[in-house]
Amino acid sequence: MFKSIIMAAGKGTRMKSDIPKVLHTIFDKTLLAYVLEAVSKTGLTDENYVIVGHQSEMVSEYLRQNYPDAKPVLQSPQLGTGHAVSMVLPYLDTYTGDVIILNGDIPLITSDSLKEFIEFHSASGSDLSVMSAVFDNPGNLGRIIRKADGSLDSIVEAKDATDEQKAVKEINAGAYCLNWSKIKQAFSNLKTNNAQGEYYLTDIVKWANDNGLKANVYTIKDKKEIFGINSKTELAEASKYMNERTIKKHLDNGVQIIDPSTTWISPETEIEHDTVIYPSCYINGKNKIGAHCKIGPFAHLRGDVVLEDYVKIGNFVEVKKTTVKSHTNACHLTYLGDSEIGSNVNIGAGTITANYNPLTKTKSKTIIKDNVKIGSNSVLVAPVTIEEGANVGAVGVITKNVPAWALAITRTPLKILENWVKRKQN
Ligand code: UD1
Ligand code: CA
Repeated sequence: MFKSIIMAAGKGTRMKSDIPKVLHTIFDKTLLAYVLEAVSKTGLTDENYVIVGHQSEMVSEYLRQNYPDAKPVLQSPQLGTGHAVSMVLPYLDTYTGDVIILNGDIPLITSDSLKEFIEFHSASGSDLSVMSAVFDNPGNLGRIIRKADGSLDSIVEAKDATDEQKAVKEINAGAYCLNWSKIKQAFSNLKTNNAQGEYYLTDIVKWANDNGLKANVYTIKDKKEIFGINSKTELAEASKYMNERTIKKHLDNGVQIIDPSTTWISPETEIEHDTVIYPSCYINGKNKIGAHCKIGPFAHLRGDVVLEDYVKIGNFVEVKKTTVKSHTNACHLTYLGDSEIGSNVNIGAGTITANYNPLTKTKSKTIIKDNVKIGSNSVLVAPVTIEEGANVGAVGVITKNVPAWALAITRTPLKILENWVKRKQN
């Protein structure tokens, strides 16, 4: 078992934001959460440390509430990535196993790649392994300098590199595996005599070589996975990559997506074969969509939505925390929240489940049993149950449970006043 260290103390100046970089989100899930989950999904780590610094209280509180097993470690002030990792030294004083270190701003990293990286490190017998990728325009990233035999000589930050080193296209992805007891001495030997005046984590490579240890490079297959986020533009690009990857997976699994370029599907949504997603849908959060469903155009699923087979969610329909059984339709202009909906139900255009009471600030459930028909423009004021087979007349405002097979009507009878307009005109 490895320990992991995720570096999340940096300021992220270029995000120009009131919130720390690692708490920015893609599909409402933080960058830090993607990295943490990828690490724990490998099943190869038993303790995860997160280095916090800039707005550390906010990040630590976020971890306490969402990832109570992760251990926040304070780095204050933030003197560089090498300094960041050294904050864990007191916690791992007697530890003799291996450690994986990751930048906290790479949300596209997958657990499969991390697993491969860890397996490479263990199989190669390296004391230190660094993940690399090759880029045509490596920009500001650290350059990988290899020895003649292909092993790792050093990492040179772009700002410190000679022209010759700058021309190298293989870069440091920001992920490291190391034999902790052999490498940990490196941290007390780091210097700040570099262009940025920081303690560079990358200098542990040189130290390892100087001390007769083995350093190697693992090149990641899909370089998009190590795309790091430093600005809102890069956040938008990463969101797009993540979406493209998800859509490709669904297309390969037999889901029909008519326009991938206007369709957004969170990575935590499962969809079965022969479901059709029409253009301009936004599917967020964790959802399970069955086979042969039709979604959209312009549908919004907000998470915790379970659709059985042959369900239709049409245009301008928003669905949240709702289960819908098979062969049920909600085709137009509807909000379904905190609901349980049976099969063979028809939800008329403009139906709203009024699930929120603003006075008590509480949400309540709407239960609609099998074979119910809800007339257009109805409001179902939760908590409320519409029993099996019942009908609600159009423009119903339903504040009480409706018994099975009954008709509920709340509108006033239609009045026709003959010649009313003409009388008014005279
Ligand atoms: C770092 C690497 C560079 C690599 C790149 C990949 C170093 C010296 N350089 O550069 O070789 O190509 O990542 O993206 O490591 N952080 C802290 N405390 C600090 C400073 C940073 O926790 O004092 C965290 C940041 O929050 C971030 C990560 O470390 O998650 C990387 O820091 P960043 O400043 O973005 O490093 P780069 O300059 O991108
Ligand atoms: Ca960075």
